[in-house]
Amino acid sequence: MPGPAVTSISPSFLFATCNPGWESALKAEMRARHGEVVTPAFLRPGLVTWKVREDAVPSPGGPLPVLAHVSGSSLGMAKTLEELPEIASRCGTMPDRVHIFPRVLPENGFTAEEWVAIDSRSEEIAAVLRESGLNVDFSPPHHGDLVLDVILGEEGEELFVGWHRHDRFRFPFPGGMPRVILPDDAPSRAWLKMEQGLHYAGLGDPGSLAGKTALELGCAPGGGSFSLLTHGAKVIGVDTGDMDGRILAFSDGNGAAFSHFAISAGELRIEDLPRRVDLLASDMNLAPPVALRYIERLQRRVRARTLILTLKINDAKMQAQIPAFLDRVRKLTPGEVIATQLPSNRKEITILSLPERR
Ligand SMILES: C[S@@+](CC[C@H](N)C(=O)[O-])C[C@H]1O[C@@H](n2cnc3c(N)ncnc32)[C@H](O)[C@@H]1O
Repeated sequence: MPGPAVTSISPSFLFATCNPGWESALKAEMRARHGEVVTPAFLRPGLVTWKVREDAVPSPGGPLPVLAHVSGSSLGMAKTLEELPEIASRCGTMPDRVHIFPRVLPENGFTAEEWVAIDSRSEEIAAVLRESGLNVDFSPPHHGDLVLDVILGEEGEELFVGWHRHDRFRFPFPGGMPRVILPDDAPSRAWLKMEQGLHYAGLGDPGSLAGKTALELGCAPGGGSFSLLTHGAKVIGVDTGDMDGRILAFSDGNGAAFSHFAISAGELRIEDLPRRVDLLASDMNLAPPVALRYIERLQRRVRARTLILTLKINDAKMQAQIPAFLDRVRKLTPGEVIATQLPSNRKEITILSLPERR
């Protein structure tokens, strides 16, 4: 539940953004968490709002709904840019940061041209807000910062305005979308999933994995491994599928290179693994209970500090079991464990342990 810690604001409506097509699943998640306290109000692809029962006080902070990218209190809709400052002022206090982002985040990410268009629209909006005396700061928020969210719809659509308090569970980028662009020649779109997962874990910088060893289960054809390699990791990949030749040949001259176990994760012998594995990733297209069995067996031995685990969520039955999957992963690591649906996740979620997160 979002954290309305500002007493002057009455959070009578909440909002959350999600992957397009997952609005009903997000509503089900909110209902499971809050029961009758919240009632769905407004819905567009990628955006849901809820009315909060008048006598209810939403509990502050804590993890976001798994399916939400951003969640907070709604302030209203601006039909024109001129209306925006008044709606933003309903916040009751000066925002520390302003996040402007599109309502629909594409699963393949934005292209360079699309980022340019988003930036130019953001600047236009920022100019109007600044003129009204608002502090517009686009730098990453610190814990406790009040963030004004301005959500862009289609051409001619009203701007949706809300706010949230940043905390360690929240992704610091506007809309939960890191600025990474899927290269045309990436070995697979799993490159983007790994990049977004690394950014979420606070490991998005180029040399973030230099000198580290990563084990990836379900690594073929190699987009995820390519991402890990280019961040400096030595990567051990496990998959019966063929790897892209560029992955097999990769060397950065500083130890980042790939070794392939062309077997299934269940056949991997513990004694064939190095003593130290820093990051365990899994992207196996298996039912989560089966994938978790493999992950548990290996993680009990390697004790990786960072986990980036993609789990298939093909139906509502699997969705209902997400808390149980999280409990299983929590037993595998002392670090904080959270689950989220990255913008690039399709019918899946990503579970991360976050020892390195800023
Ligand atoms: C979504 S693809 C992985 C994409 C990959 N991470 C990439 O970056 O290109 C799922 C992979 O899981 C692999 N897989 C399924 N069951 C597996 C198992 N038991 N052990 C290892 N890999 C498995 C499949 O062979 C398939 O290549």
